Amino acid sequence: MRLKNKVAIVTGAGAGIGRAIAERFGAEGAAVVIAEVDTTNGESAAQAISKGGEALFVQTDVSDEAQVQAMTGKALDRYGRIDILCNNAAVLLVHEEAPAHELSNEAWDRTMAVNLRGYWLCSKYVIPTMLRQGSGSVIHVASPTGIFGFTRLTAYSTSKGGVIGLMRAMAADYAPHHIRVNAIIPGTIDTPMNAVELSDPQMRKHFAEIAPARRLGTPQDLAGIAVFLASEDSDYCVGGIFTVDGGLTAV
Ligand SMILES: NC(=O)c1ccc[n+]([C@@H]2O[C@H](COP(=O)([O-])OP(=O)(O)OC[C@H]3O[C@@H](n4cnc5c(N)ncnc54)[C@H](O)[C@@H]3O)[C@@H](O)[C@H]2O)c1
Repeated sequence: MRLKNKVAIVTGAGAGIGRAIAERFGAEGAAVVIAEVDTTNGESAAQAISKGGEALFVQTDVSDEAQVQAMTGKALDRYGRIDILCNNAAVLLVHEEAPAHELSNEAWDRTMAVNLRGYWLCSKYVIPTMLRQGSGSVIHVASPTGIFGFTRLTAYSTSKGGVIGLMRAMAADYAPHHIRVNAIIPGTIDTPMNAVELSDPQMRKHFAEIAPARRLGTPQDLAGIAVFLASEDSDYCVGGIFTVDGGLTAV
């Protein structure tokens, strides 16, 4: 077990990539705090992990400062420390995304609030505990859209580019305190976030074929790298971007 005696917070752990990471953290011996806005999925994830490990669901909207503060407080009350923060919760407002001049203020603000402010808020309330402990690992789940141009994804892409900036700034500030901060960039992963697009068999085939690995990613494909970044095996990894995309961005 690579994460024995560690405590991890995973945001958006009720579904998709976050759930796979949370379940793997639990299987590797960590106590896992599920910070998820959806109560049904959050409870279900905590129950699944509790069968062989330790988990706590705290209903949390990561864009809400009071809820983030309460969530980190509950994590500390229950477990007494926080070793790992995986910032993963995000929204892709697929029906509201548009080129910049057509995007609504509401879609921009909501996307930034969850995808960027949420990552910063969770970091803001977890880092003081890691500083006191003198150790920690923060993992930000970013996206290729934060680096490359994709059409009609203005708000989402901007938020994900911001995540990379946040990751690098935090990596520089906290590495001297033995807190490492890194980012994971998933390719096209078969999750609820992509359900609309991937329900079209043609689109499914297209997204599978544009990756050199010739398949879509699964949420479980992201779990191994997350365990690596959460464990001491990644002790000298600071400010790194770890791509898990079947070669999508290599060609
Ligand atoms: N799926 C992909 O192809 C893909 C590709 C690149 C990056 N990503 C990134 O990976 C991460 C996970 O994506 P996914 O595909 O698993 O998404 P998903 O939509 O399948 O799951 C996201 C989870 O986050 C939760 N959530 C949403 N808003 C929240 C909030 N305000 N507070 C707390 N929880 C909230 C949702 O309820 C859900 O359980 C995201 O950061 C996403 O941007 C995904």
